[in-house]
Amino acid sequence: MFSAMKFNESNLELIDQKRLPHEQIWIACHTMESVAKAIEDMVVRGAPAIGCAAAYGIAIDAMNHQHLSTWKDYEKNFNLSLDRMAKTRPTAVNLFYALAEMQKTVVKFTPTTPMQTVIHDIARRANALYEDDIRTCRAIGDHGADIIKKPANVLTHCNTGSLATAGYGTALGVVRSMHQRGHIRTVWVDETRPYLQGSRLTAFELGQDKIPYKLVTDNMAAYLMQLGQVDMVVVGADRIASNGDTANKIGTYGLAVLCKHHDIPFVVAAPKATIDFKINSGKDIPVEERPAKELKEVQGISIAPVDASVWNPSFDVTPAELIYAIVTEHGVHRGPNFKLPV
Ligand code: MRU
Repeated sequence: MFSAMKFNESNLELIDQKRLPHEQIWIACHTMESVAKAIEDMVVRGAPAIGCAAAYGIAIDAMNHQHLSTWKDYEKNFNLSLDRMAKTRPTAVNLFYALAEMQKTVVKFTPTTPMQTVIHDIARRANALYEDDIRTCRAIGDHGADIIKKPANVLTHCNTGSLATAGYGTALGVVRSMHQRGHIRTVWVDETRPYLQGSRLTAFELGQDKIPYKLVTDNMAAYLMQLGQVDMVVVGADRIASNGDTANKIGTYGLAVLCKHHDIPFVVAAPKATIDFKINSGKDIPVEERPAKELKEVQGISIAPVDASVWNPSFDVTPAELIYAIVTEHGVHRGPNFKLPV
């Protein structure tokens, strides 16, 4: 199983997901700012992976202030770092969950707490978030695999695997667990325009794990369903409102509508940390717009008039009523009254 990041007690190494699948290049981030930039630039992406990277970015920042003697000397800088990190990407709530966990870690410090303790506790918390995410993904995978207990064709969108999490994946975790049970006939991987997380990353991961897949373009999903070739669609999430409305990669909503028409279960797989209980519905989810060049270029090659005007929302919001089940580490929560774990 591939990993998106390695924390070395002095820096964070990130596999550059912009260069995959053809090049496997690791980038060492030695500062909080370089981790923040890596998140903004999509070197690391996927909601849980963004959260883990942000936590490690804060840990690196503390390490880089080891010349200070106490928490009192560092506190202001710590808060500035949290603010900077919070500005990297707006939609994935896992980022804000991870930063809140960092904040909880420092509550117990007093002005005289030695800097060595500060560094140690922050790094330990960041590591714990990472380890928790792997356990969480495995639980999500195993619960999700209970939905269909016979060989099936499953369609997935974007990349929700080891690269998008600390490991194993959410929606792709469900696929992995189904495969272990002999219940994957084929995974339909849609390429996920405009940034191609499906064709570049999901196809790469499934290939590495020898899980049978077929790549399709996004606009083939309707025909595939009409031909009876899709038994379930499983996707991840960037933020789930308390009523179950779900923000995920642009194109997700369209798949959910298609599932409704074809009577196919549309399943969302995500950790409890992706549920934002502060918001009642999807209307309150901030949707990030990405730069025009991510739509007008593919791997640096222009595919549109250079002066084309562009709308490039990175996510859409699927209404809860279209979701058959939300799978978390706590189990399968069936719609329409999901009873999400609080
Ligand atoms: O823009 P990205 O690549 O960060 O978007 C990723 C997604 O939308 C994923 O489906 C989501 O974060 C879940 S990842 C387990």
